[in-house]
Formats: sequence, structure tokens, C-alpha cells
Amino acid sequence: MHKPSKKISRLVATTAIAATVLAAQAPNVLAVTQPHPDQELNQEAVKKQLQVEGVEQLENGVKLDLSSDQNAFIRLFSEDMAKVSILKEGEEEYFSEAISKKEWDTPSFDVSEEKGEITLTTDEITIKIKKEPFGIKFLDKEGNVINEDYMQNGSGYDGEKPYVYKKTTEDEAFYGFGEQSGLEVNQRGKSIGMFNTDAYAYETDTKYLYTSIPFFIGLKDEKAYGMFFDNTNRSYFEMASESDDYYYFYADDGTLNYYFMYGPEIEDVLDRYTELTGKMDKPAKWTLGLHQSKWEYSADDIERVAETYREKEIPVDTMHFDIDYMDEYRVFTWSDKFGDDALHQKLDDMNFKKITINDPAVKKDPGYFMYDEGTANDYWAKNPDGSNFVGEVWPGDSMFPDFSKEEVRDWWASKHDILFDKGIDGVWNDMNEPAVFDGPYHTMPLDVTFGEGENKRTHEEYHNLYGHDEAEATYDAFEMYKPNERPFVLTRDMYAGSQRYAALWTGDNVSEWDHLEMSLPMNMNVGLSGVPFVGNDIGGFAGRPDAEMFARWIEVGAFLPFSRIHYDSDKKAEGKKQAQEPWAFGQEVEDISKKYIEMRYKLMPYLYNAFIDAAEQGTPVQQPLVYQFQDDENTYNVSDQFMFGKAMMLAPIVEPGQTERDVYLPEGETWIDYWTGEEFDGGQTITTEAQLDHLPIYVKKDSMIPTREVQQYTGEKPLENLVLDTYLDEKATYSFYEDDGATLDYKDGEYNVTDLEVKRKGKHIEFKKKEKATGYDTDLESYTLKLNGEEAPKRVRAAKAKYKEVSSVEEVKSTQESFFYDKEEQALYVNVPADEKHKVKIFFNGKKK
Ligand code: GLC
Repeated sequence: MHKPSKKISRLVATTAIAATVLAAQAPNVLAVTQPHPDQELNQEAVKKQLQVEGVEQLENGVKLDLSSDQNAFIRLFSEDMAKVSILKEGEEEYFSEAISKKEWDTPSFDVSEEKGEITLTTDEITIKIKKEPFGIKFLDKEGNVINEDYMQNGSGYDGEKPYVYKKTTEDEAFYGFGEQSGLEVNQRGKSIGMFNTDAYAYETDTKYLYTSIPFFIGLKDEKAYGMFFDNTNRSYFEMASESDDYYYFYADDGTLNYYFMYGPEIEDVLDRYTELTGKMDKPAKWTLGLHQSKWEYSADDIERVAETYREKEIPVDTMHFDIDYMDEYRVFTWSDKFGDDALHQKLDDMNFKKITINDPAVKKDPGYFMYDEGTANDYWAKNPDGSNFVGEVWPGDSMFPDFSKEEVRDWWASKHDILFDKGIDGVWNDMNEPAVFDGPYHTMPLDVTFGEGENKRTHEEYHNLYGHDEAEATYDAFEMYKPNERPFVLTRDMYAGSQRYAALWTGDNVSEWDHLEMSLPMNMNVGLSGVPFVGNDIGGFAGRPDAEMFARWIEVGAFLPFSRIHYDSDKKAEGKKQAQEPWAFGQEVEDISKKYIEMRYKLMPYLYNAFIDAAEQGTPVQQPLVYQFQDDENTYNVSDQFMFGKAMMLAPIVEPGQTERDVYLPEGETWIDYWTGEEFDGGQTITTEAQLDHLPIYVKKDSMIPTREVQQYTGEKPLENLVLDTYLDEKATYSFYEDDGATLDYKDGEYNVTDLEVKRKGKHIEFKKKEKATGYDTDLESYTLKLNGEEAPKRVRAAKAKYKEVSSVEEVKSTQESFFYDKEEQALYVNVPADEKHKVKIFFNGKKK
């Protein structure tokens, strides 16, 4: 429910300012951003229970005849995943656009029936279906109940509204749900709503944000399961918000179907969920560099900012072109200045990648090719009477492509040559809620229609998919015009599964401390919703940060999966002209920015590999502690620390004036202060100092972090020497993936995987590697094994070859079969040739460590 709080009036006011400033004709001030208040379930209706009246075995599950002319289908998609559909008689089983894998090999399973209960058993789970009243229970193979219906209410329909009630206990935690506001990572106790909303300058308790991912992970007794309610209508999740005994989810309309997937590891749940809804592609490396953007950069600004980055030697890869590059906001056009080839040439010469924004709204403007073609071909979303829907966005009155139609997506994709011909490398989809300034609630009326004939859908049903389908069309443009390049699409709106097409930025956040703080749990939950490639506008979009805030923000920003500085137009910043480039806050903040951005570039091999895990297993890049440490309950509610990949934990400062903070170190690991080398046992909270330039970072002992020299942009230099930054206790391993980072050639086997291992063996340390895949023609000449916190060695050798001692880090990196001991740093560097066939043994004088 919307509280009539300051939040709404602010949203209304700011969006209205946005619109009035930009649109030539002042649009109506919007009243609310939702078509109607949250629709609650009728408590009487949900108390009516369904009964099972008949059972039929299916090839992959059972069909149940239910009372009230309903049927349930419970199908096993794998040994640990089931789809539950409850349908009104005659209704077909449903798959939304989220689902990328519909055909599954049926696992072996048994069905039995006794004492009023039907039981389905696979190797991993048991499903018990109670007949009177109807209810479902999921158990693990030891017979522990993982999830069960809350029998007082069960599941079914309240009129048109499908609903499911589930039992819970106080100790169950919930994660996921895509992009959510708030400062807590655990979503227990929250009322969540899903209806994609242009939520300019949202606040920490704004209920409806840009994306809708009706998927979550429940974690209880250290065991995790996933629940995906595949319903594209506006949906609601009451996560023990009313009682500690149950939670429930429901939608305004549509069918009741959900997927249950069992872990017990969160990691396995995500792997399965992203098998169902698709995994992100392996990203192009340049997209992992820093991006710089501002709404209202002039063409000159873009050039000047790009030049300044290079002059100051602050690494960056990409400049973004916001809406001003277009000819009066006509999509797929260039204004003279931004379209000037000289500008593009200059950026290319400085090795910048370029991204343009693209909005769905097409200016209603006879004579403009997009309008003419779309109109002639009947490509627009329609009013109920069949006329074209017209609504106002940046260009004034506009038409909205009906992306639900394949031919419209193809048409849209085909226009991207206009961008690509200027050398554009990536496309940024915005306003795809779709935002409509003069719409009744900042979008289209719910009865606008999409599709035709059998495929006709109302906006109400289609709303949450609009951005998803636009992202698909944009993604297809790459296939069409850059068939061997890895696409880069950035989007503001998503439904479940959109990770197949796009990365997500979290819209128009604000330069306020609580936004910095909120970005952490927000991104972590997005990551736990199958979308690893996520980021927030660094420094905040709306408003302007002060120096301290920007410094703290860039410290986090340098470690975001998607790392972009982006900020609002000066007109909207209420007169504040403060710029948001790293050098705009004075020397101290510039130095801090450079330090952390350089660190990102140093860590590029590690970051890229974290993305490979994301692409292969759905692993989040920015992980809540609970992701790796679900056996440690103290991690369940940690919202302001995160794992950056497998090995590094960050504990940022997110409050003004703070120079120290508490850090929880998860149990079962030894943690090393990345900056000082000090060691700490896990399972405790420590207090650490953090002056303005200091981001507390801890590394898990027994890890290896592959790094490289800093580059000014990715691809500036070949990767010839890979530094393996190692923190050894007993054994550290790393499986290093390498490919060209740009093309799809990896699909033809052009990649390498090398398993690296460092092991302590009594008085010596042994390093070995094993090539598991060798299809890529690597530039790698050597590894520099960097062993932190070790004594000076006596000798280093590989079989008969004696490695020679040299006298500096630079020398060791450039001298094959050499080592260097840095006394001050207590670090040993060993240069191992990439083609070293033997184990490298490092012997020490002293006793075993
Ligand atoms: C929206 C976007 C923002 C962009 C602006 C102008 O507010 O969220 O990122 O700069 O529109 O295109």
C-alpha cells in the first residue's frame, strides 16, 4: 500500500520536474506511480480449501483433479526441481518468456499412494501431496521438510488472483526478488510488490522499483530452496510480513504456477534457476572496465572527459551517450554534433568504447522513418479500440513498439546499424517500464494491448515483460550486425530471465548515504536472482555527492560487477553544478579514485573469471556472505559486507564521518587483512579503522587471486604475465580461464583452462599446474607466483632447473625461472614460465610453518 508519505510527493515532484524540464509541453503531473493500490486477497476466499478428487500419472509427474473445476499438474523437471501448476479447467500449462529451457530429461521417479497421500520420489527430493485438503510438501532425501503449504489457506485462486501460502518459521531467511529497496539483505518481514516502475529518486522504502523478478531463495536449517512464481502480472510477496508462521505470494491475474528447486546449497539453487531461465553470456572484457556517463554531456564534454581520463592516467573503457545525441530525441538518429565523425574518430583513437542510450518511445512525427515504418506495418501498442496508443516521453507524443511481436523485435534490431555504423559498441535501454509521462500512472493504461489473435495480451499482463522483450530485440541486433562479437545491452527493466540479454543498472538512485548503503543489499539480491551483471550509478544519479561521499562510493563502485559513474543533468540537480568525474572533488578524492579504479584493472583476470563462473553456473559476482557461508547463521543478516568473487570480502564505509567499522568474519576460514597482512580467525566481529582512502578488504586464507599490470583500458596490453596473488595456509587452487574476451570463438573451443595449485608440503611449498583446455592461442609467457606472508626461501627449483634469485619485483616479472623475496612486504615472488612442465618447489631454511 502507498503511504501518503514524503516519498510519494517527492517522487511525483521530481519526476514532474524531469518531465517539465525536458518535454517541450508540460505533461500532467502524475498522481501515483501504480495503477491501483495493492490488491489484497479476500481472506474468506483463501480459506476455502481444495480437495483432490482423482489422480493420473503422467510421463514426468502427476495430474490431479481438484475440486472447484481445477487441475493441478506436478511435473518433475529434474531430480531436484518440480513445476507446480494449478489451473482452471481447460486452461493450458503456462511458460512465460522467462523460461529458456522448456524441455527437460525426466529424472527417474516413483509414485505411490497411501493414506490419503500421493508421494513422488526422485533421488534428491520427495513430494508429498495431501488429498484432503490439497497441500504440497517438499522433503529432502533424509525426510526433512524443506518447504510446505500453509494448510489453513493452501493455494488456489481468489477470483482471478492466483495465490500460494507457505509455512515458515522465525529462523527462515529470504533472498532474491530482484531489485528491492531497503537496507537489509534478508527480505523476511517485507511486503514486496512487482510492477516495473520508473522510480526516479526512489527511497529506501519505495516498494515498486524498475524490475520484477518473482524468484526467491528460502534458507532454513542451513538448507536452501528456490521458488519461482512465473507470473508476469503485478505480483505480491508477503514474506512473513503478517505472521511468523506463513508467507504467501499472489498476482493480480494470470495462472498459478511455480517452480520449486532444492539446493541444499544456494549455489545449486541458482545454478538450476539459471538453467531454467538462462545464464548470462560470457561478457566482453571491455564491459568490465569503468564506464563514464552523464545526462547532458555535450559532444565536447564527452571528448574532454575522455581526454582527461587519459591525461590523468585513470583507467576507463567506455563513454556513454545519453539522450542528447539524438536528433530531438528521435530514436535511431544522430544530431549533428554527436554524429560528427571527428568525435567518434577521436574516441576511437583514444581507445574508448562507446555506448548509446536507446528509449522505446518513437516520436509521433509523420515523415520520420521510424514513425512511418512502424505505422505502415502496424507495429505499435494499441488502445482497446484498436487505435494506436500515444503517450508522452522525451520527444513529446510517441508511439510504443509492440515488442511482444517477433517481427517488431526484428525490425527494431535491424535499425541498430544506425548506431553501430558510428562505431557504437554497446546499447543502453532506458524508460522501458515503459515510462509514459502523461500516462495515468506514469505508464500506459492497463487495457492497452499487445500482440494479436491468440497472442493478444493486455498491458496489465505484459507490463513486466516490456523491458525484457526490448532487451531481446537489442541483443538480437548484435547477432544481426556483429555476429561474432559479444553483445552488451544495459537495461533498466527486467523480468526473470532477462540476464540472458542484458546487464542491469538500478535506475535513478540518489546521491545520499543511505543509497550507497542500500546499493549493497540491492545488488546482492539481484545477484541471487540470477542477474550477476549489476551496478548502481556511482556517486548517485539524482542530486550531487560531496567529496567524502564520492570517495566512499567509488571505493565500492570500483568493485561493482557493472561499474559506471553516471549522473543527472545539471538542470535537475537543483542548481548544483558539482561534476562527478573522479577529478571533480580535488586531489585527495582523485587519488582515491585512481587507487581503486586501478585496483579493478589489476584484478581484471580475477573479475573476468568471476564472470565466467556467472556465465557457467549463475554465480553472483557480488555475493552476500550467506552465499558462501550458509552454514554460519551469523552471515544471514549481514547487509553491508560482500564477497567480491570467491576470495575477497569487502566491508565498505557507507556512513558520513566514519573512520572505523565492525566487520564480521565468517566462520571456518582464516581471514587476512588485504592491506596489512594481519590474520584473523573467522567466527568473530572485529573493529577496523578506515580513513577516507581506506576500504577494508579481507582475503580468505588459502586463496589465489589472479591479477595483472594496470592498463588504461582493457586490451591495451597483452596478458603476458599473470600474477597469482596467493595467501597460503595448506593448499590454494584456482582454475584459470582465458580466451580472447571479445568474440564468440570460445564456442568453438578457443579457450584455455589451467588448474593451478599451491600446496604446503612439510618444509617446502609446491606449485603445479595442469592444462585442462588449450584451444586459445595465449600470450601468456609466465606466471608470477606471489606468496604472501612467507619467509625468505633457501632455493627454488623445478626438477633439475634451479631458479635464480633476482633483486626486484620488476626483475622477477621479466625474468623466467627467477624469484625475489621482498623482506618488507614479506612476500615471495617466483616467476614460473607458462610452459613449465615440472612442479616448482620452494624450499625454506626454517622449520615447517
Ligand atoms: C532516465 C535514466 C537516466 C538517464 C535519463 C535521461 O532518468 O534512468 O539514467 O540519464 O533518463 O536519459
